[in-house]
Parts: sequence; C-alpha cells; structure tokens
Amino acid sequence: MMVPQHVAIIMDGNGRWAKKRGLPRTMGHTRGAQVVEQILEDADDLGIRYLTVYAFSTENWSRPAAEVKALMNLLRTYMKTSLAKCAKNNVRVRVLGDKTKLAPDLQAAIANLEKETAGNTGITFQIAINYGARDEIVRAVRKLAADVKDGRTDADAIDEAALSNALDTGGIPDPDLLIRTCGEERISNFLLWQIAYAELYFTDKAWPDFDRAELEKAIEAYGKRERRYGGLSE
Ligand code: FPP
Repeated sequence: MMVPQHVAIIMDGNGRWAKKRGLPRTMGHTRGAQVVEQILEDADDLGIRYLTVYAFSTENWSRPAAEVKALMNLLRTYMKTSLAKCAKNNVRVRVLGDKTKLAPDLQAAIANLEKETAGNTGITFQIAINYGARDEIVRAVRKLAADVKDGRTDADAIDEAALSNALDTGGIPDPDLLIRTCGEERISNFLLWQIAYAELYFTDKAWPDFDRAELEKAIEAYGKRERRYGGLSE
C-alpha cells in the first residue's frame, strides 16, 4: 500500500449521526472526539507521518452557545488530559488557527501540550481550532508585511516558500490526501494554500462511523491515483 505522508480530514456529520439516533448533536461530537483519537493511532500504525483535522472553524462560533461550549470542552479535555498518551505514543501536537480568540485556560493548555510534545518524533497531530484558511493567509501576509516594514526582509524576497513558512503550518509538508466525510464535497475554507496538489477523497460515512477500514479504503484509492503536479505522465 502506498501510504500518504500527510493526511488531512474534514470530520463532517457528527450532528446528522446523532440526529439519526435521536441523540443531541453534542453526543455526535463526543463520539467524534473518540473517533479522532482512534484514527490518530491507526494513522500512526499505518505509517502516516502527519494527521491534520478540522475541529472548529472560524464560522463555527455562530452555532448555538451550548454546542460551541460542548465542542470547546471536548478540546479542553483533550489538551488537558492527553499528555501521557502523547508521550507514550511519541506524538507531537500542534494547533492551527487563531488561538487568541480562545478561552485563556484553553490557550494555556494548548501552549503546554505543544511545548511538552514538541520534541516527540512520531506522528505529528495538527488540530485546527478557530481556523479558517483565508484568515490564516491574512495573518501570514500581515506577518510578512511587518517583516518588510521593520526591515527584516525585502518585499522582493517574498516567494511561495516564505508565504508557506508564515502560515500556521510552517515547516510541515503539504497534505497528500484530504478526506471529507458525510457526503459533502467541498473544502469549506480548510488549508486552501496547502492542498494545491492534494488528492481529494469523499465518503458518505458520517465521522462518528469512520474507522480504520475506512481510512485504509481512502489510502487505497489514493494509491491508485497518479499524481502529476501539472506535468505529464511517462
Ligand atoms: C462537523 O459535524 C464536525 C464539527 C464541526 C466538529 C468536529 C470536532 C470534533 C470531532 C471533536 C474534535 C476533538 C478533538 C479531540 C480533536 P457537524 O456538526 O457539522 O455535523 P452535521 O453537518 O451533520 O450537522
């Protein structure tokens, strides 16, 4: 099996999964959070080096307050309780997105987990929280503009590599495969710059039903595709 180095996932369908079972939407998210942790282990086991998941978008703040709170609490719990597991499994955690809008205790827990796992050499787990790709690009451009203004760089020296490095994902290779669950076939402002050459894979499975077999199916489909990066095949 040809395994992609970096897999990104838009975990969609938690709400629909719950509704179908007569459960509150938040139960779908709770189950979804358990699934992410399992898929991280499976991804690692399959040889994937980077896993990036879309946990909370810049648009998700407009959901009902109770749902926003439930999602934030799931993320809070993850940040505060997963250090031992990350140490055991050699996982490095990074959080993408504008963290300045998150609750101070969550920001502190994220900073701590990122710092404590920074030296781990196994799979890198990137969680996008209060993330929007356009917002990320705007923040990166501001950073570069400040560098030019303060004389740290020249406008002419700004190239694709410089912009890539200024993004939240700076230093991380671009995703090879982007998976979206639950039937929707759109990107929803996720990693717009980074997925320029990614293979896209859509499945009807809702995220809480996603499992190792589904991940393997996506990898298998990826392996059958021919990536040409704009060139010609031999
Ligand atoms: C989309 O389903 C899912 C989300 C907006 C949240 C995803 C977050 C998690 C699975 C928790 C992440 C936790 C960790 C530890 C990383 P939806 O609510 O839009 O579903 P719907 O389209 O069926 O309504």
